[in-house]
Amino acid sequence: MPVSSFLRPFSVCVFFLTVYAAAHAENSPVTFHKDIEPLLQDRCQTCHHPGDIAPMSLLTYKDARQWAKAIKEYVSLGKMPPWYADPSAHQHYQNDKTLSSAEIQQIRAWVDAGAPEGDPKDAPLPRNFPDGWNIGKPDLIVPMPKPYQIPAQGTIAYTYVIIPTHFKHDMWVQAAEIRPSSRSTMHHSILFLRTPGSKWLAGYPKNQAFVPKPRPGTDGRSSEGDRTEEGSLADEWLASYVPGQRPWIVPPDTGFLVKAGSDFVLQIHYTANGKPTEDLTRIGLVFCQGVPAKRAYTATLGRGDFAIPPGDPNYQTDAAVTLATPVTLLSASPHMHLRGKAMTLNAVYPNGSSETLFSVPHYSFNWQQMYVFETPKLLPVGTRLEATAAWDNSTNNPFNPDPKVEVHWGDQSWEEMMLSVMIFQIDRHTDLDHIYAPDEKRASN
Ligand code: HEC
Repeated sequence: MPVSSFLRPFSVCVFFLTVYAAAHAENSPVTFHKDIEPLLQDRCQTCHHPGDIAPMSLLTYKDARQWAKAIKEYVSLGKMPPWYADPSAHQHYQNDKTLSSAEIQQIRAWVDAGAPEGDPKDAPLPRNFPDGWNIGKPDLIVPMPKPYQIPAQGTIAYTYVIIPTHFKHDMWVQAAEIRPSSRSTMHHSILFLRTPGSKWLAGYPKNQAFVPKPRPGTDGRSSEGDRTEEGSLADEWLASYVPGQRPWIVPPDTGFLVKAGSDFVLQIHYTANGKPTEDLTRIGLVFCQGVPAKRAYTATLGRGDFAIPPGDPNYQTDAAVTLATPVTLLSASPHMHLRGKAMTLNAVYPNGSSETLFSVPHYSFNWQQMYVFETPKLLPVGTRLEATAAWDNSTNNPFNPDPKVEVHWGDQSWEEMMLSVMIFQIDRHTDLDHIYAPDEKRASN
């Protein structure tokens, strides 16, 4: 038998199979359970579940069906999922949930077909958010000692609550999350550690909310709550709840150190929402199993001595620090207020080469995302970290509270800040006082 006639029936068969598969794919409608639900789980539900930062849940078919048209619009315009890092930096971030054009096309096709449900048997296993926590079920939940009463109106100064941990041993924290009971009044919150011996906020009461005294000579822009003077480098951030940010992710063999006898210091910025409201914020902690291989440490790089001229559309400043100890950089994020325009973080390596770690060319105050490196960055001793920030204090900035004033560092959103918050992974025994070059002991406010 000639070879060709032996092959023919086989190839005809393959041809028909291919045509059949293509036709089938075209005719098989895109359904929620089969095609859309897995996408929503992976790209949307961390924020779109009850009690989290997004205005509505997208956990079930019923939820998503109701929002189908808006979903199509938001994903088509690239507004959701939110993502502000410039791809030109050529970094890969673990938490980049951007949809591919094929995925966007699939969502559009689903909505255009009338958002069909499909067969529930096709559904993936549901994602679980125990009691709403993003970090999983906490090993320990620390509530504020008393609910805080937020007035209906007015500006509310940063409020602090010192909560003693009563930890008798050093503890290692794998993940921490701040959950307000009243999201609509919480503008942001930061959970700091106050290590034994720190003079920061000494003399203020424990277990009750207070507003620290203003620092003399700062026009009320700085208070004794700022860690600038008395704090030690070990008084680090353990968690933050800022617009658009998710709880921080660190690898399983890594933990934040909470020294025995430390206090938690919760800084909360409440904003009035038109009616008197009560908030009881809770802190959730997941502990490492045993002593982790590495320590996670939250470093901040920034500067506070800027003066942004009135009307300036592109006022820039920068801050830099040199590492005196090897660091693995896990993630980094920009922080500015309403005039924030752009921020870049670069690493200049001892061999002279350099790279951009993140570039956020269109900074949005509402999306202060952490950029979590897919491959953590190994920064040898001598690496210089350089942050550059730009503000738009002109009338072109629609969020500008007042283009006619000179703007300085300050707590409130109509004042400014310039910080890059970075999560370092370091050797457990690193002495924090030797982490930076000697004349750069403190990298920022
Ligand atoms: C990082 C958190 C986050 C992720 C991830 C996210 N969203 Fe959102 N989403 C929000 C927040 C917060 C809002 C409200 C503020 C806004 O509209 O910018 C919102 C608003 C929306 C709206 C508009 C709702 C309205 O009131 O009109 C739609 C639609 C939406 N998201 C769909 C999605 C879809 C679809 C995905 C996944 C592909 C997604 N989101 C991923 C946080 C998120």
